[in-house]
Amino acid sequence: MVMKLSASILSIQHDSAIKEKISKLLNSSINYLHLDIMDGNFVANKTWEYNEMVNLLPRNTKNLDVHLMVNDVKKYVYDFALLKPVYITFQLEAVNNPLEIINLIKEHDIKVGIAIKPNTPISFLNDYFALVDLVLVMSVEPGLGGQKFLDDSVKKIEELYSIREKNNYKYVIEVDGGINDRTVSYCSKCDIIVVGSFITNGNYEERIKQLKAK
Ligand code: DX5
Ligand code: ZN
Repeated sequence: MVMKLSASILSIQHDSAIKEKISKLLNSSINYLHLDIMDGNFVANKTWEYNEMVNLLPRNTKNLDVHLMVNDVKKYVYDFALLKPVYITFQLEAVNNPLEIINLIKEHDIKVGIAIKPNTPISFLNDYFALVDLVLVMSVEPGLGGQKFLDDSVKKIEELYSIREKNNYKYVIEVDGGINDRTVSYCSKCDIIVVGSFITNGNYEERIKQLKAK
């Protein structure tokens, strides 16, 4: 598997051993740790505020891939920039000023990701392709782990791939939700896959190996 692996910890949110499990993931062969930040408004689920997250991560944790599913995007950009993540990705549907958010994340020297929900068309991103470092295709409705991969996501991945090739854009393509040893084969044109429950519901190293073998 040439693509990179970003492990989501959403499904162990309420696990009493979450701290140890995060360390185990960080010591595995994953490329990024995917932090699903939910405010209970943009999506019904609530996950971690900055001060909660910082207590769960080893100091100076690298390779963080922050996925904001929040309404007050600016507040969470300021907060989570403190963790010095590689990416901060926000949902297009949550803001009326994408350019302002893109610039705010860039001002923190953090790579910018823009995410779209399953029923948001690719064309809604037209004005931002040249400006972002990552486009995240949500292959499930945001809010929960353990959902089924939505097959329509494959068309979006193909479209993003050809738009990038045609225009020589630089964004990486990330897909997130319902990815397992079967659905990973639909994501061959992606650069990063986000995997949560398939890894955290099983033996971490075994499940990671199964994904990389595809
Ligand atoms: C859903 C999150 C995803 C989710 C992936 O809103 O953005 O990152 O945690 O989990 P699985 O792999 O279990 O679908
Ligand atoms: Zn996510």
